Amino acid sequence: MKRVDDFRLQFGKHELVPIMIGGMGVDISTTDLALEAARLGGVGHISDAMINTVSDRRYKTKFVKDKLKQYKFNVENTDKAVVQFDLDTVAEATRLHVRSAMDRKQGSGMIFINCMEKLTMNAPKETLKVRLTAALDAGIDGVTLAAGLHLGSLGLIADHPRFRDAKIGIIVSSVRALQLFLKKNARLNRMPDYVVVEGPLAGGHLGFGLDWAEYDLATIVAEVLQYLRDENLDIPVIPAGGIFTGSDAVGFLENGAAAVQVATRFTVAKECGLPEKVQQEYFKASEDDIEVNQISPTGYPMRMLKNSPAIGSGIRPNCEAYGYLLDSTGKCAYVAAYNREVEAHPGARKVSVMDKTCLCTHMRNFDCWTCGHLTYRLKDTTVQRSDGSYQILSAEHIFRDYQFSTNNKVALPETEAA
Ligand SMILES: Cc1cc2nc3c(=O)[nH]c(=O)nc-3n(C[C@H](O)[C@H](O)[C@H](O)COP(=O)(O)O)c2cc1C
Repeated sequence: MKRVDDFRLQFGKHELVPIMIGGMGVDISTTDLALEAARLGGVGHISDAMINTVSDRRYKTKFVKDKLKQYKFNVENTDKAVVQFDLDTVAEATRLHVRSAMDRKQGSGMIFINCMEKLTMNAPKETLKVRLTAALDAGIDGVTLAAGLHLGSLGLIADHPRFRDAKIGIIVSSVRALQLFLKKNARLNRMPDYVVVEGPLAGGHLGFGLDWAEYDLATIVAEVLQYLRDENLDIPVIPAGGIFTGSDAVGFLENGAAAVQVATRFTVAKECGLPEKVQQEYFKASEDDIEVNQISPTGYPMRMLKNSPAIGSGIRPNCEAYGYLLDSTGKCAYVAAYNREVEAHPGARKVSVMDKTCLCTHMRNFDCWTCGHLTYRLKDTTVQRSDGSYQILSAEHIFRDYQFSTNNKVALPETEAA
């Protein structure tokens, strides 16, 4: 019976344990989590979602406060078009975050950054270019292009000195999306170094509609592998979404995958950015407590716990401080929904907004409890403490469980001292 450790992910001459921990914004996949993956010989991700906010929290900068000060005059205004990011601060925040990870990296693994196109930041091209360039400048091992088709993203960094040496991958949820990406970027003569194929059971935003349950990861992976064979393209394929045990992973590796990307199991790791109170909610969840809804202003369906405080919250949009989801015309679907409710309830001190959420504020505060579909199985991966709460795991324990387990088994942790 094979184990994940019997396989290796090969990037040129570089051999890795074929386990990639997926990017989880906003600082849920922390530097510490990525460092553990790299130390153990796999691939870890940091994320550049809400990078100025993360920088303030981690590196004592004051980017958010300064931006709010600059745009304070607009806070009461329903129109947010005027709110712009200062590109120098975005670059500086990205460099600080990447350097802090790369300076501390040990072991033979790699650290990548997850870069979501849907974070349009009121100037999609300019801000994405700055984020990608700064991450490469600061020495990131690789960039995973996420949440979007990224048809123009490679072009933004084609003249960067590290364009051909850094690893660059793309997340797709269909063979069609991969075909489009390859076609649009053909003139650059630079293939992606890996393709993450994310299925319908993943956490975060989904590349599927509300009919997600009709799709199946193994089928999409087989289609992508077939397409690459037909085109004579040798690109590592990395399935993601619902790979819960080492045996699940081995199934994909035996069928031609180069590695697996996993995330949900690591949401209850000590190194993960979620506060322990929230991790306990993940442990407690049953299958019925998890839903895919459309409250994300990005327009993509998102999976989360139904008791997330973000759902139904009608807080005032905070674009003057954040504003990561403002599109190229300065609009965000939450701002529109909020304005509509305020207008419908004149004089009300508080409104409730059911159809959209202020994702920036709620992700920043860990109040949008996005999760993978198999979150309801997390309780089976640990032991319960005498007070009924669940014991938090180490990232090393989870990583090694994926690496060495057989027979669909999940290794329980040693019970911590009382
Ligand atoms: C809490 C959480 C947050 C996530 N955030 C992001 C994100 O910011 N960007 C992204 O591309 N994928 C995100 N994902 C998806 C993961 O990177 C990964 O591909 C997927 O969840 C793997 O499936 P699994 O969670 O069933 O292992 C997130 C997943 C979770 C669980």
